[in-house]
Amino acid sequence: MAAAGVLPYELYSDAPGFLFNKVEWEKANASHSQEADFGKVPEGWPKKIEGPLVWDGKDLEAHPETFIRVLSSDEIVEVDAALKSFVKLSLPVSEVTRSTFPLPTLGPALRQLSENIYNGTGVNLLRGFPIQNYSKEHQATIFLGLNSWIGDQRLSQGTGLHIDPSKRSKIFVSAQNTDAQMYHSDVAADIVGLMAISLPESGGESTVSSISQVYNHLAEHRPDIVRLLAEKRFRWRGVGIPDEGVKLIHWFRNNLYLNFSTRTFIGFAEVPDRDPDYPSLTLEEREAFGGFNWIAEQYSLSTALQVGDIEWVNNLHHQHARRGYTESLSSPRHLLRVWLRDSEFAGELPADIQNKFDAVQSQPPDFYPLDELEEDERRRQTGVFTAACKDETAQERLEKGEVVGANN
Ligand SMILES: [Fe+2]
Repeated sequence: MAAAGVLPYELYSDAPGFLFNKVEWEKANASHSQEADFGKVPEGWPKKIEGPLVWDGKDLEAHPETFIRVLSSDEIVEVDAALKSFVKLSLPVSEVTRSTFPLPTLGPALRQLSENIYNGTGVNLLRGFPIQNYSKEHQATIFLGLNSWIGDQRLSQGTGLHIDPSKRSKIFVSAQNTDAQMYHSDVAADIVGLMAISLPESGGESTVSSISQVYNHLAEHRPDIVRLLAEKRFRWRGVGIPDEGVKLIHWFRNNLYLNFSTRTFIGFAEVPDRDPDYPSLTLEEREAFGGFNWIAEQYSLSTALQVGDIEWVNNLHHQHARRGYTESLSSPRHLLRVWLRDSEFAGELPADIQNKFDAVQSQPPDFYPLDELEEDERRRQTGVFTAACKDETAQERLEKGEVVGANN
């Protein structure tokens, strides 16, 4: 159910008038005659994908023990001890690794989760750590320490570590508002890790969808949409996107891979203008993106995060989204986010995705800000992501009385 003051998700679009909301997609889909021939999936692609990455979120929700691992009290003590041993080393937080954050019994269990994130269902949640009892310095250390056991390589962290609009200064980017988001891939990582530090007043649920499951639905009902996503090259303004564009989904080594966000074709927040040298989306393309998003929603896993939860999502095979939410300064939605790869489980990628990741990750991460104000300061200094960021704070929005979380 939508939170008060938040547009119902079925009426939400990242780009109203360009990307279909659910109602618009259903209308477009129903406009085809019963006898319409949508053809076949591309040559060499399966009629149906099988394996652990293919799931319906409703089945996982019915069996939370299959993806939620609850920490024992001994494991919580072990994490606390790892923090203390890291603090004794007097190293910067960028030096948190498996060797500086030792977890002799929990570590091997986290390695099993990493294997599941790569080769199993591709989604896991670790629950029960009392993160609220720690200072912000120690929260970041614990978050990165636990994550080092999931992926030994921390990648370029994009806009920073914190997702929290309420603490922002005069700069924030698209992840940092209260709007819902449609299904998307994060820019260049095998795994996305998110930890809930504090929760909003209402809304803000995180959802994940198996795109192999979406594929199976589309292959049966709308193979024309599969063909468009698999065969046409799309271009947008972004690091690592060549002039000839990239294909959006790839059948590679018996798995479906993807890394794109539909809103990049339209322009959004820090990327306000679509690529003017690329033709506007056709109606057919807009319908394809609508179908892709709303079928993803149909099969999604919805998680109401609890404080201390860490959620890991495979960013090569799944996409994620979130619901809009209402905020207050005393009850912000504050998440820590990290982008990871694990050298033991990572494999070869389709060339379009590998080239993009290489370009985005050409700079090693060296900046782990303690809070959002530090992140904003860094953006001012570097000029990155500042051009079109909204020039107001969460407090100013609240004082103006705007409906937050709405799609306007
Ligand atoms: Fe994301």
